[in-house]
Amino acid sequence: MLAHAIQNRGMSLFNPFIPHIATVVDIRQETGDIRTLGLRFNNRDLDFDFAPGQFVEVSLFGYGEVPIGLASSPTRRETIEISVKRMGMVTGQIHKLTIGDTIGIRGPYGNGWPVDMLRGKHVLVIGGGIGLSPLRSLIDYLLDQRDDFGTIKILYGARTPNDLVYKHLLRKWGEARDTEVFCTVDIGTPEWDGHVGVVTALFEQANITIENTVVITCGPPIMIKFVTMGLEKMGFADTDIITSMEKMMKCGIGKCGHCNIGSKYVCVDGPVFTHRELKNLPKEL
Ligand SMILES: Cc1cc2nc3c(=O)[nH]c(=O)nc-3n(C[C@H](O)[C@H](O)[C@H](O)COP(=O)(O)OP(=O)(O)OC[C@H]3O[C@@H](n4cnc5c(N)ncnc54)[C@H](O)[C@@H]3O)c2cc1C
Ligand code: FES
Repeated sequence: MLAHAIQNRGMSLFNPFIPHIATVVDIRQETGDIRTLGLRFNNRDLDFDFAPGQFVEVSLFGYGEVPIGLASSPTRRETIEISVKRMGMVTGQIHKLTIGDTIGIRGPYGNGWPVDMLRGKHVLVIGGGIGLSPLRSLIDYLLDQRDDFGTIKILYGARTPNDLVYKHLLRKWGEARDTEVFCTVDIGTPEWDGHVGVVTALFEQANITIENTVVITCGPPIMIKFVTMGLEKMGFADTDIITSMEKMMKCGIGKCGHCNIGSKYVCVDGPVFTHRELKNLPKEL
């Protein structure tokens, strides 16, 4: 199937199996340890297409590769954006990049969010910390085709106010038609006048309806655990709760076995799964 992803569109042959050189054209420091990079392929003829929720392998020459979700929407193709949390060797180097530096991008990989299934439905988006990044790709995609979807409710939690990403977008999203944003932090500060508590504490305030609603969620495993428990208790079907899973990866294309769980390779069968699919995977989750 991946072989079909080599696309010949007019003059531009896009090969997802090799790194393509991209230049950093924009940097936004979101929090102390998360930054968003705007990237442009050096070969402007490359027609890089992707779906919200897919990821790329980012190469830092001399250091290695890391899987990173695409944060921008395919409906906004001027640049692609990724948001990266500083964790170790490679992400640490990404945090040292400056405008004009180059990196390699191969992909896109993975299945992405099931956008066609969302058409005509209400969408409840629940994110935690850097998990808002692949959700941002979806939110902008939904907002750019606003008439195709029902109400959009976005619930977002971070550890402290300083750990909230995309602060400018959270405000903007909340101004869109039939779209509401609810934010919370685990630990407040004297300046924070918003909600304090875990993201599930927002369920009541958000006045969630189950009928014709699909939940899309991404965040730390502990958040996903309590979010799915809470949603199932409310009556959501496990097929209507959809999450993106982070697993150690190397190749990203189903060859090395690093991301294997039972019969699934998270890099090709996922990273997006329904809660029902996740329940049926072996327990190491
Ligand atoms: C499909 C997918 C999408 C991702 N999207 C993003 C994203 O949009 N933004 C982002 O900042 N990060 C994302 N990650 C996580 C990112 O790939 C890791 O943080 C990165 O590989 C760490 O590499 P490193 O060399 O900096 O750290 P290392 O030196 O390799 O490790 C440092 C620490 O990070 C942990 N770590 C390593 N790999 C992962 C991983 N895959 N998941 C969780 N923890 C890990 C290690 O256990 C260790 O504690 C994604 C991971 C996957 C699988
Ligand atoms: S990362 Fe190599 S098989 Fe999935």
